[in-house]
Amino acid sequence: MSRYFVSCARGLEAVTAEELGSLGVSKTEVVPGGVFFEGDQDHLYKAHLWLRSGQRVLLSLRSFRCHTPEDLYENVKSFRWETFLTKGKTFSVDFTISGRNGPRISHSHFARLKAKDAIADRMREKTGQRPDVDTDAPSIRPVFYLRDGLCTLNLDATGESLHERGYRPSSAEAPLKETLAAGILALAQWDKATPLFDPFCGSGTFLCEAAMKAMNWAPGLLRHHYPFMEWPDYHEPRWERLVGEAESARVSLPKGLVRGADQNGRAIQLSRTALKVLGLDDVVSLEQRPWEHTLAPKEPKGLLVANPPYGERMGEVESLVPLYKSIGDGLKQLFPGWRAAIFTGSAPLAKSIGLRPTKRIPLWNGPIECRLLTYDLYAGPSSSTEESEPDSPAISE
Ligand SMILES: C[S@@+](CC[C@H](N)C(=O)[O-])C[C@H]1O[C@@H](n2cnc3c(N)ncnc32)[C@H](O)[C@@H]1O
Repeated sequence: MSRYFVSCARGLEAVTAEELGSLGVSKTEVVPGGVFFEGDQDHLYKAHLWLRSGQRVLLSLRSFRCHTPEDLYENVKSFRWETFLTKGKTFSVDFTISGRNGPRISHSHFARLKAKDAIADRMREKTGQRPDVDTDAPSIRPVFYLRDGLCTLNLDATGESLHERGYRPSSAEAPLKETLAAGILALAQWDKATPLFDPFCGSGTFLCEAAMKAMNWAPGLLRHHYPFMEWPDYHEPRWERLVGEAESARVSLPKGLVRGADQNGRAIQLSRTALKVLGLDDVVSLEQRPWEHTLAPKEPKGLLVANPPYGERMGEVESLVPLYKSIGDGLKQLFPGWRAAIFTGSAPLAKSIGLRPTKRIPLWNGPIECRLLTYDLYAGPSSSTEESEPDSPAISE
């Protein structure tokens, strides 16, 4: 068993821990921004195949007290780097410093160079050669965190963040990270059987993530290489077996189960391109239509999920008030019986929806503190969602 850490957006830790649980991991520890877990090689491989909300997996190697550059150098040099940096392998060091540390070890750039020298010196002593540094695509990436005099040394198992699924065109504007979109679907408790509609679909992140989830499509199948494959204990037959299992677990997507709309033709084009990469452009419906002209759905139940624009500058927020009001009106009038999950970074705009949310879940979109507001829109005549939104706590509270 080894100890790992998987990072995720703040607010999604419980979702990520639950995903790990469904992969057979029994020991998890949730901390802000991620989850520690104990697992074997199968768990590491399954995490890369199956995690939807997790971003990056680190293998914890050791921790040590570190108050001076000498502490750092000696502790790093004493690690058996030669087992990882075998012939032809490159490396690159990541170093993050926070909290209160010794005055001579308070700059991450300096600490990174010191750690890099310790690794290179060890390798030269053991093999007679210095390994090459490659900052773009290193074979091995040691990741150090120094906080309050305690340094932890980890190895990056993932490389490029798992949110880079590879289906989305790079030209998309203000897209949600795929991992955050998947986490929102989990928090909204979409059951994969009732229809899902995103009327502000932009580049189609919710649509792609929902489709993949409904198909039991392991997102890690979209990538073919991960840095853990460079590790000396990499067991290719085991990885291939898990890939084979994931491939045969995939089912097809019922036509029309997932659909999206956006008022912007370019957004629809971006969504179509992303869905095409997944081979799903003919089963996910897309329509260029402003929310204000949305039609009532045929189905009595479903999930409406959306990340409407929330404006980052002052004037923009004000100009979006009518849109948010119309979101509230539309939900109430057109979607009784449905659940809605609206993700927004603006407290005043959230309030303009004018409905009482069933849940108000704090969630970070990068550095921006946002809320996921869920609404259970009752089909009955005395719907509690018809009450106007009382003074809701500001998102910054
Ligand atoms: C923040 S983006 C959504 C990003 C999307 N979740 C993604 O991951 O790409 C908001 C989207 O809402 C669309 N939009 C803005 N006002 C709209 C309206 N009144 N009706 C429909 N779509 C609208 C914009 O064109 C934009 O694509």
